Amino acid sequence: MQLKDLLLNLKMVMFGGKGGVGKTSCATSSAIWAAEHGRNTLIISTDPAHSLGDSLGVELLPGEPTPIEGIDNLTALEINPKVNMAEFKGITNINPMEEMGMSGLMENMPLFGDMEELTSMTPPGIDEALAFGKILEFVETNHDYDLIIFDTAPTGHTLRFLSLPETLSGWIGKLIKMRVKIGNMFGAVKRLFTREEKEKDNSLDVLERLNESILNAREDLTNPIKNSFIIVMIPEEMAITETGRLLNELIKNNISVSNIVVNQLYQDTTELCEFCKARREMQEKNLIKIKKIFRENLHKNLIEVPLFKEEIREYDKLKEMGEYLIEKSY
Ligand SMILES: Nc1ncnc2c1ncn2[C@@H]1O[C@H](COP(=O)(O)OP(=O)(O)OP(=O)(O)O)[C@@H](O)[C@H]1O
Ligand SMILES: [Mg+2]
Repeated sequence: MQLKDLLLNLKMVMFGGKGGVGKTSCATSSAIWAAEHGRNTLIISTDPAHSLGDSLGVELLPGEPTPIEGIDNLTALEINPKVNMAEFKGITNINPMEEMGMSGLMENMPLFGDMEELTSMTPPGIDEALAFGKILEFVETNHDYDLIIFDTAPTGHTLRFLSLPETLSGWIGKLIKMRVKIGNMFGAVKRLFTREEKEKDNSLDVLERLNESILNAREDLTNPIKNSFIIVMIPEEMAITETGRLLNELIKNNISVSNIVVNQLYQDTTELCEFCKARREMQEKNLIKIKKIFRENLHKNLIEVPLFKEEIREYDKLKEMGEYLIEKSY
């Protein structure tokens, strides 16, 4: 499918690639185009070094979806990479003393002290994982958006995000089992001491709901009629190698890729200086390779976007880029 059809029909479109190649510019231009073609669009930046607000020329508060003034149907969101861990209390920490209602009573007893330390440990990187998890949960809950566009971080970070559903789900699955076991074990002890009835453990429900939406997100991410990943690249040797690697990883993760944007192409004008002519020649050689590998061999649509004289920022420039990305590539 061409980018135009993806933007008109899919639930999610993701833009990714090497640092600085034009991911944010392409994602934002596409989001404006989709919004102006009647789709209620949310653009989400998952890059902790956000530049979505700068690209649109608006201030975005972390974690707050902001309707973009002057563009109907467009909302932008920069995720807050630091989740409030207190929200996840009971999910990230299992404290057996608390389970028994005896917090602080038995720290001095070697066995219980060790157990407390062991079970209240937080896995490394969990705050970032939960920030991503929250996004996936949001995508899976009821909302009014027809299309969600992801402006992703440079490659490595994005691959972690895409493999997150498996990682988080496996981890949450283990946690659920552990909670049930610990809950049963200490619940019995607690009842022995306090004769209290077993209380309902809400954090288990929270875990189960989070797990369910993450598994649904996995299903959506890997469904080619719901999600497609657009790789953005520049016509340079190193970018070809990196694009090949990214494509492999996406295939391994069952994520559909049908379009590749080749951005920042020098145009053929007689005005080019010696330096620009040399760069254009270098780009032309690489473009031939790109066409052979990605179009002929791997059957991807290539979208060629020229190098603009000015920075691509704010509405007019983003609209102009959108024309090349979506309208002129046919
Ligand atoms: N075709 C183009 N012509 C001229 N300037 C461009 C073009 N594409 C992108 N730029 C400029 O290049 C810079 C980087 O673009 P952008 O922020 O979209 O890249 P990115 O891949 O999102 O970067 P990062 O990896 O830092 O997130 C910006 O200043 C943007 O205006
Ligand atoms: Mg960016």
